[in-house]
This record gives sequence, structure tokens and C-alpha cells, in this order.
Amino acid sequence: MMLPAVDTETAAPATSTLPEVLEALPTNTVVYLALLIATYALHAVFMNYTFGGMLWTAVAALRGRYSEGAPRDTLATVVRDWLPSAVSAAVTAGIAPLLFVQIVYQRSFYTANILLFNRWMALLPALIVAVYAMYVVKAHGSAGVRDHGRAAKFLARGDVKSAAAVLAALLIGYVGLAFIENHLLSLAPETWRDRYVEGSPALPAAPAWIRLAMWALGALPTFAALAAWQLRRGAGGANDEDRARASRPLALLALTGAIGSLVLGTIVWSADHGGTRLLDDSIGRLAFGSLAGALAVGGAAWITMALHRRLSAIMVALAVSASLVAILAHAVLREGARLLALAGTPAAAREPSGLGGLAVFLVFLVISAGAIAWIVRAVARALPTTHRA
Ligand code: HEM
Repeated sequence: MMLPAVDTETAAPATSTLPEVLEALPTNTVVYLALLIATYALHAVFMNYTFGGMLWTAVAALRGRYSEGAPRDTLATVVRDWLPSAVSAAVTAGIAPLLFVQIVYQRSFYTANILLFNRWMALLPALIVAVYAMYVVKAHGSAGVRDHGRAAKFLARGDVKSAAAVLAALLIGYVGLAFIENHLLSLAPETWRDRYVEGSPALPAAPAWIRLAMWALGALPTFAALAAWQLRRGAGGANDEDRARASRPLALLALTGAIGSLVLGTIVWSADHGGTRLLDDSIGRLAFGSLAGALAVGGAAWITMALHRRLSAIMVALAVSASLVAILAHAVLREGARLLALAGTPAAAREPSGLGGLAVFLVFLVISAGAIAWIVRAVARALPTTHRA
């Protein structure tokens, strides 16, 4: 395989700051970068629910919550029932950032795909098996289903559901790890030649695991906030008692996730990128400050809900909004780190500079966004209230 020759003429100096890097980019690249950040943030909302929900479901399954005769656990049931839809939403919302990342960072993204090869390709079968495993957990052990023979009886068994839930959680974790490894490899053009010659190590290196832990912990506050919002909307027939029962476990999960992800985030975002640290940069500091602030506000909302054992509308809205701000800040930090890491390399963000058609793209973007909004509204209106949540 021919690796791209180093072409330094158009690259920014390695020690640029983010405002300098952005200023040097053509307008259409900046537009696609902004769209990459926005669409990645949307992907992150659903993948956070998927990851947090999968962990919750796996623990609930191991505790026998889905076995015949188990005590009522509305939160566990709602999360389990919505997981296949959440993963579908994460996959669908992943398409748009996939488009933009390829446009903006064609060279580094594809090179990392090729160098990772089997590990990258394996994420598709992993995702497919995970989705089927989620349906095994969801398959109800109701009388109607049990009457349909041995297969249905097998699927209704508690140990089968536990095994399927743990398998799905591991596979979803693998998908996240594959994206992380790919991302980290795409940020390090200086390692590509050795990687090509030596192949991938048997296990991802420590930074990938730290990033996975940061991302997994960061998913928990979003999951907790969205699950609380579902319970408030009456999903699964949730009543005040269900909401009171769910308030403390969800608060504990959200607070653990917020604190853990902030600690690991400080390590991840302090990394040195060719002589520049993201946290020494004005944009990096603003994004990290917003992330920490949002996690603190969300944490305060969860402490209030735990103390009152009540998922009040205002506190749930605060927790959801704080999670959205944290996700957006996180998306800006990721992109800032990538812009700094690749500045001064031939893989820097500038591929779209030679592309035309931005105006046509923007027209279709508006039409598509309008069509999606209309469909979501029409479907939501047609659903009974319990399903809307
Ligand atoms: C439910 C399964 C999925 C999980 C758990 C997941 C997880 C992740 C994670 C953790 C990242 C961040 C990587 C990092 O910051 O290092 C990420 C990024 C991304 N994901 Fe997903 N993902 C899933 C499915 C998908 C699918 C199916 C697609 C494509 C259709 C997709 C598209 C993307 C894209 C484009 C990025 C940004 C890549 C980059 O900027 O380098 N994801 N995903």
C-alpha cells in the first residue's frame, strides 16, 4: 500500500492555536466542521442512552428483573423495551457525522480504517449481534408468547436473558472501542508507517481504554436524564411510586458518571498535541469550562431529586439540558484536539477546500431537516401518550 507523501505546503505550523487553525481554513471547511460537531453531538445523545441503558438492562437481567414472577420494576422494563429503538437511532444518527468526517478528514479517517482493518470491520457484525441480543432480552415471557413452543420458552428464561444482556453490553462496548481506536489512530499520522509494517497490537493501547472509560462514564448522566424524562412522561405506565423508586439509583448513576468522566476528561484533554495543549487554548478552555459547568448543574439537579425522592419536571429538564450542553462541549473538545493534532500534517482538515456545491448541499440540508422534523412530529402525534415517552 502507498502511504500518502508528506506535503507540507498547505499545512499550518504544528504549534498553531485553535483560533489560528480555524482562521486559516476555507469557509466551506468550517461549515462542514460545524456540521460534523453538531451531528456528532446528536449521535452522542443516542449512543449515550444506548450505552447507559445497556448497562442498566444487563444489571437488571442479572438481578432477575425480567424473570417470571419478578417484582415490578418499571424503569428496567422501559429501558429494556426502548433499547432496540435507541441503538437504531444511534446508528441512524451516526450516518451524518460519518459523511462529514470523511469530507473534512478524508486522509486520516480512511487511513485509520485501513490500518485497523479487521478490528474496524468487526464493528458491523458486533452491532448486528448486539441488536438481536437486545431483542432476546426484550422478548416477553407472556402467556401468549409461551404458548408458541420451546423456542419462546427458551427466550423467556431468566438466564438466557441475562446472558443476552451481558453479551449485548460487551458488544456495544466493543463498537465504542473500535470508534475510539480508529479516532486515536487517525490523530497520529507519525505512527501510520510503523503500524502498517507491524500490524495492530493484540489489544488497544492504554489511551483507548482511558477514553472508553471517560466516554462510558460520560454516557451515564445523559442516560439517567433521558430515562427520568421517560418516566415523567408516563412510559411503561410509570406512576409516582415508580418515579420515587427510580430517583436515587438514577441520581447515584448520574453523579458517579459525571465525576468519573470529568476526572478522566481532565487527563484526556490535557494531552499535548505537537507542542500545544487543548486546555491552554482559549477555545479548549471555554469548552472544558462549559463541560465542567454543565456537569455541575446536572449534578445539583440530581442531588435535589435524590433528596426529595422526586423526579420533578423542572429538575429533570435541568438535568436533560445540562447533559445536552455537556455533549456539545465534549464534541467541541474532540474536534479541537483533532484540529491541533493534525495541524501541520498533510492530514489536516482542508479536504473540502477543493469541493464545490456547498450552496446546493445547504439547500438540501434545509429540505431534509424539515422533512425529518415533520415526520417525527407526525409520528409522535399519532402515538398514545405512554409510547411518546
Ligand atoms: C450503538 C453503537 C455505537 C456506539 C456505542 C458508538 C460509539 C462511538 C464513540 C464512543 C465515538 C467517539 C470516538 C472517540 O471520540 O474517540 C463515536 C464516534 C463516531 N461514531 Fe459511533 N458508535 C456507534 C455506532 C455508530 C454507527 C453505526 C455509526 C455510523 C453509521 C457511527 C458513527 C460515528 C462517527 C462518524 C463518529 C465520529 C468519528 C470521528 O470523529 O473520528 N457510530 N461512536
